[in-house]
Amino acid sequence: MPDGQDAKIIPRPASAGAEGANAAAGANSPAVEFRNIDIAYGKFVAVRDFSLSIAKGSFVTLLGPSGCGKTTILRSIAGLVDISAGQIMIGGRRVDDVPIYKRNIGLVFQSYALFPHKSVFDNVAFGLKYRNVAKPEIRRKVGKALDMVRLPGSEKKLPSQLSGGQQQRIALARAIVFEPQVLLLDEPLSALDANMREEMRVEIKKIQKETGITAIFVTHDQEEALSMSDRIVVMNAGSAEQIGTPEEVYERPATAFVADFLGKANMLAGTVSRPDGPTAVTLASGQTVNVVSPKPLAQGSAVTVVVRPQKLSIGGKSANRLPGRVVSASYLGGSAIYEVDIGGKTTVRANAPIDGRVLREGEAIELGFDPDGCVLLDAAGQRIS
Ligand SMILES: Nc1ncnc2c1ncn2[C@@H]1O[C@H](COP(=O)(O)OP(=O)(O)O)[C@@H](O)[C@H]1O
Ligand SMILES: [Mg+2]
Repeated sequence: MPDGQDAKIIPRPASAGAEGANAAAGANSPAVEFRNIDIAYGKFVAVRDFSLSIAKGSFVTLLGPSGCGKTTILRSIAGLVDISAGQIMIGGRRVDDVPIYKRNIGLVFQSYALFPHKSVFDNVAFGLKYRNVAKPEIRRKVGKALDMVRLPGSEKKLPSQLSGGQQQRIALARAIVFEPQVLLLDEPLSALDANMREEMRVEIKKIQKETGITAIFVTHDQEEALSMSDRIVVMNAGSAEQIGTPEEVYERPATAFVADFLGKANMLAGTVSRPDGPTAVTLASGQTVNVVSPKPLAQGSAVTVVVRPQKLSIGGKSANRLPGRVVSASYLGGSAIYEVDIGGKTTVRANAPIDGRVLREGEAIELGFDPDGCVLLDAAGQRIS
């Protein structure tokens, strides 16, 4: 089992009001807990043996390629899809049989799903009216939610009078206005243009911190996941591959899938040519590199050396040297991405700061990395630990 899978999340104090009637059910319980759930659509099992514990007030992201089961898991929390095995607990209470309308959950989707002919006020007030909140209280809460999403005074507008980003803010206001126990966000930024996406990342994160709400965010975008989350669940084909902080999943990928999906790491195949003192791996491309192995490895065993593009320097004094030739260069401003051919059959990616000038295609260079700048995977694609 990948690292971190069994790590306990330390519960944080819940924000006032976010608990509601469930306070007695377990002040120290996780906000949401999945225990070995399966979800099937007919005979097709979309989610298999999924377990996750989400601390109150934390921001957790389900990250993975399209079709890996992210939306299905979110829907199961809201009660929009039934689980076929396991248990879901919200605030320490089993909810498998609690209907949708009794689960106190806020939802934001990719499409804003606002009522087009209703005013901003009526859109945001929807969940409160539904819960029979008194009128003056509705006005106060809607005003507060609109302040929170930085659209104060927009009550009388229609959704069509707002930009995409503003509509998504209204959808967010609508989801948080009744102080739900959990906020579910399913790819909420993917319909927005790049600039707006970055702005909304910061905005959503800020609102989540201010309200102390527990948020479960779904995306296939690794940058969104890395920049917003307290913890990331990297999903593959209906199961969790790795659960950890952004740094953990990025720096110490548990599997080949995680290494490749997050940041397109270089995966250099090789065999152990010296078991210890220090461990050396001879790469398929011909070079021998020193690595740090957490345990002794058998001479001749197959391993993959995973090196992030950022860990590869050009020239410099690193212990491991890979001579090669620049195949392509993409200038990114402060740094450049180089595709470098090493040994004729292997191309690696380096992301290096610009040192004077951008390197040219065909230029002969030497890439370097330190023995502790890489992760080792075994023949089955699991991190050696
Ligand atoms: N209503 C459905 N009926 C049948 N299969 C479905 C249904 N919804 C989703 N699936 C399948 O379940 C898998 C997971 O889907 P989904 O949770 O939407 O993935 P993601 O959100 O990660 O893209 C996919 O293979 C998808 O085709
Ligand atoms: Mg989805």
